[in-house]
Amino acid sequence: MVRSRIAGLLAVGFVVGGFAAVGQADDPQRGRDIIMQQKLGHAQKLLEGLAIKDFAIIEKHADELGILSKRAEWLVLKTPEYTRHSDDFRRHCETMSRMAKEKNLDGCALAYVQMTMSCVNCHKYVREVRIAQATR
Ligand code: HEC
Repeated sequence: MVRSRIAGLLAVGFVVGGFAAVGQADDPQRGRDIIMQQKLGHAQKLLEGLAIKDFAIIEKHADELGILSKRAEWLVLKTPEYTRHSDDFRRHCETMSRMAKEKNLDGCALAYVQMTMSCVNCHKYVREVRIAQATR
């Protein structure tokens, strides 16, 4: 009795897990949405780290953002311009992480501002490309 109930639970787990995996593989937009939301979460944590001068928080989330920017889902447009924006972004994350290791709060703040500018610049570029594609 107990054993069959456990087997039942395991079966449900497999089915649910299977759907989740299929959902990700079949729908690149969904994987993208997730990564973009994670990106926002890390950027918000960075602001918190800066505000309360917590270098461990800053280093952790700057590193996480750098890693996210290397994921396949990040590469939404395969253009040299998009790659350049990604490289700029990653460089600012790396600088922020290094500044956190050196306990340089002003350096972290400057890198944060530069990183934020690269969020805005890349989004501006992506919007322009999409408008151009839509009106073609
Ligand atoms: C190299 C380019 C690039 C950079 C840099 C970048 N993004 Fe994005 N971002 C994108 C693209 C492309 C999308 C749209 C993905 C899609 O097609 O769904 C996006 C989507 C988003 C979304 C989801 C918007 C929505 O409508 O759901 C958020 C939130 C976001 N980005 C936040 C940020 C933040 C915060 C930063 C900086 C810390 C940042 N992004 C930096 C390319 C970038």
